Amino acid sequence: METLQPLPSYSISDLEEVLVTEAQISRRVDELAKEITSHYAPNDITIVCVLSGALVFTADLIRKLDIPTRLDCIRADSYGATTEATRPPRITNPLKTDIKDRHVLVIDDILDTGNTIFAIVNHLQNASPASLKSCVLLDKKERRQIEIEADFTGFEIPDAFVVGYGLDFAEHYRNLKCIGSLKRQFQSIPDTR
Ligand code: IMP
Ligand code: MG
Repeated sequence: METLQPLPSYSISDLEEVLVTEAQISRRVDELAKEITSHYAPNDITIVCVLSGALVFTADLIRKLDIPTRLDCIRADSYGATTEATRPPRITNPLKTDIKDRHVLVIDDILDTGNTIFAIVNHLQNASPASLKSCVLLDKKERRQIEIEADFTGFEIPDAFVVGYGLDFAEHYRNLKCIGSLKRQFQSIPDTR
């Protein structure tokens, strides 16, 4: 007899464990915004949001910054609908604005192997910014393949595939308010909705 796999609900009940709560995220975003503001003030900054994962984090963070802030977005694709990157990331949507002589802060959702931030930093460096730093909400240090650290980090987390607060599996779960590990049974299921 075939056993029936439960279907994902794309809600918090698909999580194995909540690793970072909504309240913890909110407190840490406040702290990061203060750190970033005092690091850059009185200069202005250009935020480069790495789509789509960093969208939610960036939206919350920039509203807490107390310095003149420009916003641009970039996209690097490495995953597709899997939980493992299969090829080096490609920049698929470059910036719209000129960052020459600007103080640039790249914001990503998670630093995992390091390949994405590495590719983006190299790409942006070619445009001659005045300075170039990075900020990530999550850091999975154990998974690093490239020696690279973010300048501002929200939380260090263990090696688990996580979703929520912008992070997805096959474009789902980005709207969850907390961050948690996705139950293994939902990490390979074909998209049914
Ligand atoms: P890296 O290139 O391996 O550092 O991975 C960075 C990118 O992979 C992030 O911008 C995420 O989009 C994605 N990623 C890495 N780990 C996770 C995860 O646990 N959940 C969801 N996305 C992840
Ligand atoms: Mg991403």
